[in-house]
Amino acid sequence: MDVKAILADKRAVVEEALKSYMLKAEGPLADHIAAMQYSLFAGGKRVRPILCLATAEALGANPKPLLPLACALECIHTYSLIHDDLPAMDNDDLRRGMPTNHKKFGEAAAILAGDGLLSYAFELLTLPELAATLSPADQVRLIHLVAKAIGPLGMVGGQALDLAAEGQAISFEELQRIHRCKTGALITASVQAGAIGGHADPQQFVALTSYGEHVGLAFQIVDDLLNVVGTTEELGKAAGSDAARNKATYPAYFGVEKTRAMALEAVDAALASLTNFDQRADFLRELARYIYTRTT
Ligand code: IPE
Ligand code: IPE
Ligand code: MG
Ligand code: MG
Repeated sequence: MDVKAILADKRAVVEEALKSYMLKAEGPLADHIAAMQYSLFAGGKRVRPILCLATAEALGANPKPLLPLACALECIHTYSLIHDDLPAMDNDDLRRGMPTNHKKFGEAAAILAGDGLLSYAFELLTLPELAATLSPADQVRLIHLVAKAIGPLGMVGGQALDLAAEGQAISFEELQRIHRCKTGALITASVQAGAIGGHADPQQFVALTSYGEHVGLAFQIVDDLLNVVGTTEELGKAAGSDAARNKATYPAYFGVEKTRAMALEAVDAALASLTNFDQRADFLRELARYIYTRTT
C-alpha cells in the first residue's frame, strides 16, 4: 500500500470539500471570514477528517456523504489551534508555517475566528442533507459525542489542565489525562463519527473507539516528541516551545527514548483493537503507523 499517495489523495478530497463548505469572504463579514479561512487553509495534515472517512471505509461504507462531518472536525480542530496559540495560552507566533492568527489579524479577530469556526462546525454537523446517510437518531448521537469530546470533559478541559500544569510537578496519571483530553478526545470522536457514519454495529463501535483512544494518545505523545527532536522549519511551528514554557510532556517526564517506546506501545494497542476487521481496515492500520513515523 502506497500510504503517502493515499494520504495525499485523501487530503486533496478534504481540501476540496473544505473549500466548497466554507463561507466566502465577501460582504460586510469578509474580514471575519477571511480570518477563519486564513488558518483553515494554511495546510494542516487533515488527520481528523481523514480518520473519520477512513473509519467509514473500513466498515465498507462510501465516505463521500460524510464529507460535511469530516469538514466540521477540521473546523473544530483549527479553532482549537487558533485559541491554543493566543498570548494568554501558549503564546505562539508560528502555526502551519505561517504567522499565527492573532499575529496576522490581532487578538480579538483571532478569538472570533476561532469562535466562528467552532460554531460553523455545528452548522455542518446538522446539515439537512446528512439525513440521506444518517438516521435522525444517529445524527443526534454523533453530534452529542462530538460536543462532549470537545467540551469541559474533553478538549477544552484538557487545555485547562494543560495550562494549570505549566511548571508544576504532576503525576503520570495527570499527564495522561491531559493528553487524552486535550488531543485524544477529538481524535477519538473523529473515529467514532466515522463509525456511526459507516453504521458500525455495537461491537465494532467499541473496537473502533479503542483504536481512536490509542491513536489519539499516540498522536499527542508524538507531538511532544517532535517538539523536542523536530525543527521549526519542518514542523511549521516553534520547536522547543514546550520546554521553554515548562509544559507537562512525555519527554519531560520520561526522556526521548522511553517516550518513543510509549508512543509505539500506544500504536500497537491501536492496531490490536482492529484484530477483527478485514483488509478494508488496512488504511486505518497504516494511519496508526503513520502517526508514529510522521515528522511533521
Ligand atoms: C497539532 O495538531 C495540535 C495537537 C492537537 C497535537 P496537528 O498536528 O494535527 O496539526 P495540523 O492540523 O497538521 O496543523
Ligand atoms: C494542542 O496541544 C491541543 C489543542 C490545540 C487542543 P499543544 O499546545 O501541545 O499543540 P501544539 O504543539 O501547539 O500544536
Ligand atoms: Mg497547548
Ligand atoms: Mg500549543
